[in-house]
Amino acid sequence: MTELKARYGTPLYIVDEELVRQRCQQYIAAFRASGLKFQVAYASKAFCTMAMCRIADQEGMSLDVVSDGELYTALQAGFPAKRIHFHGNNKTLEEIEMAIDAEIGCFVVDNLVELHLLNAVAAEKNVRVQILLRVTPGVEAHTHEYISTGQTDSKFGFDIGNGSAFEAVKLASEQSNLELLGVHSHIGSQIFEVEGFEMAVQRVAEFAKSVSEQLAVQFKVVNLGGGFGIRYVDGDTPLEVSQYVKAITDAVKTHFSGWSSELPEIWVEPGRSIVGDAGTTLYTVGTSKDIPGVRKYVAVDGGMTDNPRPALYESKYEALLANRANDPVEETVSIAGKCCESGDMLIWDLDLPKVNSGDLLAVSCTGAYNYSMASNYNRIRRPAVVFVREGESDLVVRRETLQDIVGNDVIPERISKQA
Ligand code: LLP
Repeated sequence: MTELKARYGTPLYIVDEELVRQRCQQYIAAFRASGLKFQVAYASKAFCTMAMCRIADQEGMSLDVVSDGELYTALQAGFPAKRIHFHGNNKTLEEIEMAIDAEIGCFVVDNLVELHLLNAVAAEKNVRVQILLRVTPGVEAHTHEYISTGQTDSKFGFDIGNGSAFEAVKLASEQSNLELLGVHSHIGSQIFEVEGFEMAVQRVAEFAKSVSEQLAVQFKVVNLGGGFGIRYVDGDTPLEVSQYVKAITDAVKTHFSGWSSELPEIWVEPGRSIVGDAGTTLYTVGTSKDIPGVRKYVAVDGGMTDNPRPALYESKYEALLANRANDPVEETVSIAGKCCESGDMLIWDLDLPKVNSGDLLAVSCTGAYNYSMASNYNRIRRPAVVFVREGESDLVVRRETLQDIVGNDVIPERISKQA
């Protein structure tokens, strides 16, 4: 860690490449064991860089993107377009055109406006595009309320419960330039139990059955989204990747057998569980403020700009002093970031050895939704990202420079001329 600091500086995102590859392999092995046809799409929103897209490709993953930026990153990395799935509840015309021109594999259509726009653009370009319809199965996952998306009151998708999903299937199957492959459901994120997924499979299967009987439309693909939890701190109790996959594939076998001539191909979209625990953020300790009898604040050289999750979701993290990992615990401190706001706290009440300025703090499990949600608040530069494997480290994103900070700024002549 000291070497990494010397070479790349801090804050620094460090990603254990081997662990990322293992997680991809675990999903693929678990699906192979099920005997079902499948695709495992890495949800790139969790952490999207060109090197990561390359690894996802090498490990046989598909890729879920939600913006032109993620799509561009994937294409620049040489990710095969056919295995890219485009998500999002408000794809722009430009994004739709870009994705059609790139010949991506599938659009996950979220709403009727998009359905008509996509069909029109595809017609204009004289192509037929493959789609899934995003449905909300009405399953509420046990997770933080801001990241539950499967319940009826959601900005995403067509509701199965109120008939809008049925209407959407009917409409989609009538569009000349759309090929409806099936449906997509995502019930939330950081989920520890399998029941929510099983329930979603059951609801989707019942829906598929009614669509098959009443509209003679067969779903070839059922995408069950992501949301598989990971352990951030003691008390988090995620299952093994293989357990999530087995629960889903077993539920598919149960609920689609008997009435469906062929079991659908199953797609999933793990993000957090591919990269989350492979990431560590390294900070340098700077100042501290001891309020006797109240609390000791210890400030690091990053904070909510590189990890907004504690401020946004009250997420908990564990950390240790990387340069003195074996020293005995001596004090309880709270880790503050360097932004000008009181909410910029990374960890409350952390037991550490006596902390000094210059110590290195390593916060674990920061691989998902940290780099990808980082900001330039307070015009703080976003950190570098390195991948480590077998004792070697390689830069995959360079640290932003001060020049980057003003790189897009313009002083209009009218203002610069004013005295
Ligand atoms: N598929 C869809 C349609 C999604 O919306 C998401 C996450 C995923 C897959 C991947 O879910 P995962 O396996 O990573 O749980 N920023 C929040 C998480 C937001 C998740 C949004 N959608 C956080 O930091 O916890």
